[in-house]
Amino acid sequence: MDQQLRDLVCGMPKAELHIHIEGSLEPELIFDLARRNGVALSWPDVEALRQAYSFTDLQSFLDIYYAGASVLLTQQDFYDMTWAYLERAHADNVHHVEIFFDPQTHTGRGVPFAAVIDGIHGALADAGTRWGISGGLIMCFLRHLSEEDAMATLQQALPHLEKIIGVGLDSSEHGHPPEKFTAAFARCRELGLHLVAHAGEEGPPAYIWSALDVLQVERIDHGVRCLEDPALAERLASSGMALTVCPLSNVKLRVFNEIGDHNLAQLLDAGIAATVNSDDPAYFGGYINDNFIAVFKALGMDREHAKTLARNSFNASFMPEHQKQAKLAEVEAWFSR
Ligand code: ADE
Ligand code: ZN
Repeated sequence: MDQQLRDLVCGMPKAELHIHIEGSLEPELIFDLARRNGVALSWPDVEALRQAYSFTDLQSFLDIYYAGASVLLTQQDFYDMTWAYLERAHADNVHHVEIFFDPQTHTGRGVPFAAVIDGIHGALADAGTRWGISGGLIMCFLRHLSEEDAMATLQQALPHLEKIIGVGLDSSEHGHPPEKFTAAFARCRELGLHLVAHAGEEGPPAYIWSALDVLQVERIDHGVRCLEDPALAERLASSGMALTVCPLSNVKLRVFNEIGDHNLAQLLDAGIAATVNSDDPAYFGGYINDNFIAVFKALGMDREHAKTLARNSFNASFMPEHQKQAKLAEVEAWFSR
């Protein structure tokens, strides 16, 4: 990848639509917060924790990710974690970010829902003031827990709805199909929330079909296994359904053996509105621009791919239409320099 293309991709205006804020907790911050809060960790130091970041599949990652999140107790902790992510996103020229958070990971340990959402929301509001970054919060339900638990979480979120733009579905995919959450998503739709779901990361194309047809989601998170089903790929392309793809995550969690095997270029060639995102940057070896660089280098992608991906990121976002048009014009200007 030549320096000119690298500068073009790193500097282009972009939106990040698939970032789990708990997955942005760097090992150093995990240890700082553990010390601040008197939380015991099973790793002696930062190095030992980093050494543990060798995953065989999604579940092996989730086990460590939930352990890392156990250091988060106060509103200030959630603020500090989110601010650290937003500094990195700003440095990568992210203009808009839709942040996933997992309230059940915290409320299940006795942390008040308000501490979680107010800390994250406060940092996002301050990033708007400081850098003009726009964005919103997407509350994810943990799919390994029951639908009843998801409904109880939605109940806790009701007083905070103005701070949430949508809901998602994450955690262990195998054995937890989207249709397990039919009623919860129907209720969220009635409340006017945007709907997204992880599907087709490790799970089969059938999970993407049911996320679309049963949950009626507006974006698919990951979705990379869609190419195993030509009718599904055609459906995604013709409907303009966006996929939030996370290349480094897919390699770390062994969805693809190596970055050169990733199907991002094939997705784009098939006319699917794919976007590039970081998923859990502290665990997977990089933030959004690291993902762009890795995949551009490995797949020999070019300037046209970059422009398409920048445009897709804003088009797939939940920003108001007038703001979307303004951002698309900024992309156009960047590529006409
Ligand atoms: N939670 C955090 N990262 C995730 C991923 N990649 N898939 C499912 N759940 C997650
Ligand atoms: Zn994810």
